[in-house]
Amino acid sequence: MDVYLFWIMAKNTVTITDNSTGKSIEIPLLQGTEGPATADIGKLYSELGIFTIDPGFTSTASCESKITYIDGEKGILLYRGYPIEQLAEKSTHLEVCYLLLHGELPSKTQLQSFRSSIGHHSMIHEGLKSFFNGFSRDAHPMSIMVSVVGALSAFYHDSLDIFNPEHREISAHRMIAKMTTIAANSYKYSVGQPFVYPNNELSYTENFLHMMFSVPAEKYEINPVVADALDKIFILHADHEQNASTSTVRLAGSSQANPFACISSGITALWGPAHGGANEAVIKMLMKIEKPENVNKYVEMAKDKNSTFRLMGFGHRVYKNYDPRAKILKETTERVLKALNVSTPLLEVAMKLEEIALKDPYFIEKKLYPNVDFYSGIILRAIGIPLNMFTVIFALGRTPGWISHWMEMIAEPKQKIGRPRQLYTGAVSRNYVDISKR
Ligand code: ACO
Repeated sequence: MDVYLFWIMAKNTVTITDNSTGKSIEIPLLQGTEGPATADIGKLYSELGIFTIDPGFTSTASCESKITYIDGEKGILLYRGYPIEQLAEKSTHLEVCYLLLHGELPSKTQLQSFRSSIGHHSMIHEGLKSFFNGFSRDAHPMSIMVSVVGALSAFYHDSLDIFNPEHREISAHRMIAKMTTIAANSYKYSVGQPFVYPNNELSYTENFLHMMFSVPAEKYEINPVVADALDKIFILHADHEQNASTSTVRLAGSSQANPFACISSGITALWGPAHGGANEAVIKMLMKIEKPENVNKYVEMAKDKNSTFRLMGFGHRVYKNYDPRAKILKETTERVLKALNVSTPLLEVAMKLEEIALKDPYFIEKKLYPNVDFYSGIILRAIGIPLNMFTVIFALGRTPGWISHWMEMIAEPKQKIGRPRQLYTGAVSRNYVDISKR
């Protein structure tokens, strides 16, 4: 088939002409409140019989959204228009959850009522607890999270009518509230300690620390430095527009699956080392590098195309500049280590690695900078979070983002099931051959 396409770009449209048939279509160029113009190619196939292909979605928007904006060239991240630096400095995670869900910062009364609703939903059904006992003691907590979060739909089916806004809100609050309890239980199970019930007098993040670290035999004092650092980590992870896990939640949700099942699929997508699993991988890498003198060897290995080794916590699909979250976390790491009087060779190795990589032509040309995972692991380690819980912490932080995107998608009247097409490169039609003749 000979197809000759001509694109003519005008102010608000692109005209595409197929010279083999003389047929033309006008494709609208949509302009958001920020970001590049976006060509709406929805009619390309029905009008001209052509698909587009973009593996990895490097130039393709999968939806319209009002929640988060990233300018990867300038290193800007906004939640509902608010710069991440301001939210990290002045806000709390629960306030950010409200902001992501509702689009505006809450008034005092709104925050109070949100806080009380999250508190109200913080316990999990007693029957759900027996799920944990079925896992091997050395199970990775992420594997427990995937299963137990999915199982929530078996216990909270009283609010699963996704077309009822009240049900959606209850499910969203349940999801945000119960994630801390499920996460802490998955840790308690792995160390053989009893599950700790939530204490709603504590803040969201303090409550998580209480469920993670307190034991019935002793009094547990929450260190405000630790609670503050963890709250910041939650804020910085709360949303990141259409990343792999959020897109997974949206795709699962587009089939009208229930929100708990959708979030469980998001947790699965987050788990891999190219996404949320990178925070665990960074620490393992820093431990392997061991000392600043070894950094050069590993940087060379990361540049070697014959090696599969990559600098974990470096590079990002969208940021072609320093990830603004990594900048905040670098400062926080230094402050937390000082306040807790912790010294770790890992920080020295990380700083040397960053210094060398940022001067290296390979990393400069490819615009590879530290991402959010580069420093978060050092803080998590310093505040006593075990390594296999790092990605769970990311999942906890990202939950309000996932659920906000799910809510936005369901409320969208034009919403359709997500169903990508493909460029087929397999065998052409052929006849079945009987097994005796193969
Ligand atoms: N170390 C060494 N080289 C790298 C790295 C790295 N960390 N990241 C990218 N590159 C190189 C690639 O080899 C590739 O080189 P080439 O053009 O010569 O083939 C080039 O940079 C572009 O890399 P891609 O993998 O094509 O970029 P993509 O946008 O698909 O991937 C990703 C982004 C997955 C984050 C990648 O940079 C990576 O694997 N980083 C390490 C893992 C990591 O830190 N993940 C966390 C991401 S942030 C988050 O999810 C919270």
